[in-house]
Amino acid sequence: MSAPNKSYDPVEVEALKPEEIARRRDEALAAIAAAGDLEALREVKVAHTGDRSPLALANREIGALPPHAKADAGKRVGQARGQVNQALKARQEELEAERDARVLVEEAVDVTLPYDRTPAGARHPITTLSERIEDVFVAMGYEVAEGPEVEAEWFNFDALNFPPDHPAREMQDTFFVQGAEEGETSGVVLRTHTSPVQIRSMIDRKPPIYVICPGRTFRTDELDATHTPVFHQVELLAIDEGLTMADLKGTLDHMVRALFGEGMSTRLRPNFFPFTEPSAEMDMLCYVCRGESVGNPDRPCRTCSSEGWIELGGCGMVNPRVLIACGLDPEKYSGFAFGFGIERMLMFRHNVEDMRDMVEGDVRFTRPFGMEI
Ligand code: FA5
Repeated sequence: MSAPNKSYDPVEVEALKPEEIARRRDEALAAIAAAGDLEALREVKVAHTGDRSPLALANREIGALPPHAKADAGKRVGQARGQVNQALKARQEELEAERDARVLVEEAVDVTLPYDRTPAGARHPITTLSERIEDVFVAMGYEVAEGPEVEAEWFNFDALNFPPDHPAREMQDTFFVQGAEEGETSGVVLRTHTSPVQIRSMIDRKPPIYVICPGRTFRTDELDATHTPVFHQVELLAIDEGLTMADLKGTLDHMVRALFGEGMSTRLRPNFFPFTEPSAEMDMLCYVCRGESVGNPDRPCRTCSSEGWIELGGCGMVNPRVLIACGLDPEKYSGFAFGFGIERMLMFRHNVEDMRDMVEGDVRFTRPFGMEI
């Protein structure tokens, strides 16, 4: 910047001469008009309006002028800078509009094109529901136990206190694996329930034993809306000192609350299983009407047929004979067990009306359940 002076006319300062200012302005306007894209415009802006630009430097000369000359020079430079800034703004808007129009064309997506990716499948809801049930018990300290699907009759029946000619064996229509000779039995079956995993767990582990056993099971049932020959069960077994029916009830109540929400509960009805004594059928409160449909014709419930309860499976205290078969002292240890079908739970938890949908493998059935993991 020039030294302060009080004598000379501002037109004598080269940078402030009207023609010099007009020349700098015109240069800037030409550069702005020539900028072909936003990047070029950014460079033009720095060159013509930045701190070191000719018009900015001219502006700084004004400070050194005598007071009477400042207004005139200030107006001249200010107008020129104003024109440059306006032109910059207008060009910026023009170039942005051009860019947006170009992007719209370049990045246009033809939504009518055929879908070119292999559609992602979904996990089967039987798997995700089993895992959800396992999680409830793993969170309580239970271990997940597994056993073979092709099982020795001894584990599937004998150790569970089914005598050879006990009618209970007939209750569960069994796939027997054929023996080597025609008419000979192999002593091997496709397991009819997950209860043999109880036996394996008691033999393999030392008490206290807390296991949850999910798995595939087989019965010679015809495929229909409520039965399938291949289905899934979850079995639970707890063996410890001093366990009672109250522990079983508390565990069942916790499970239905964890799976169906607060306020849920279970009830037990007497039943018979050879491997539990006493045995019970377990029902859970209907999670839709919560029992309010019972005796209330104005509020019928399709889920529980207005009975207020839904049958879930079987349970009971482990029969002392079973403990003995597994080498455990029934004087010292007691235990409880329960088991239920996952297909059945999926039916009422998700309003699936026909069990056949679960086994047919159609992705239109599994996809709406999503990818819960
Ligand atoms: C049992 O299998 C016992 N092992 C359960 C148990 C475990 C009782 C521990 C006591 C202690 P049950 O035969 O009732 O019980 O079968 C249990 C569940 O399996 C039934 O409630 C039903 O939901 C399911 N189930 C049985 N057969 C089929 C089938 N063919 N298709 C689909 N689900 C079935």
